[in-house]
Amino acid sequence: MQLNSLPMMCGLAASLSLLTPLSTLATTKGYVAPADTVQLKSSALPGFAKASVCYACHSAEYIVYQPPTAARPYWNAMVNRMKNVFNAPVQEADIPEIVDYLVKTYGNEQPK
Ligand code: HEC
Repeated sequence: MQLNSLPMMCGLAASLSLLTPLSTLATTKGYVAPADTVQLKSSALPGFAKASVCYACHSAEYIVYQPPTAARPYWNAMVNRMKNVFNAPVQEADIPEIVDYLVKTYGNEQPK
């Protein structure tokens, strides 16, 4: 192959790869997310029921996969961030109980 035929080859490859995604788009119907199977661990602590607001926006996975070494101030900051930054519908008065549930269920106050 001659060196000066390279630019033309590249142009052809580029236009072919442009066509492919377009035709794929035309037949795309939508996306179905997999079922959310992660749930918060049931507990007699009063914060358990109140923490149900915590998966209104995202999966409970976000909570379940936090480090088990996370201490009370970490959870307190997290709940406050959800409320203040993302407008999570958390009542100010419920925060201590929700934090208590989270740290005892997923943080560093879990029963040994
Ligand atoms: C109004 C929507 C909303 C609600 C309600 C909500 N969150 Fe979130 N949360 C978010 C968004 C958005 C993110 C991802 C953005 C980010 O991580 O900065 C997130 C991320 C997280 C994460 C991942 C770690 C991290 O730092 O991002 C944790 C843990 C979490 N939320 C816990 C909670 C808890 C606990 C509650 C209940 C008190 C809660 N969320 C309620 C919107 C919400």
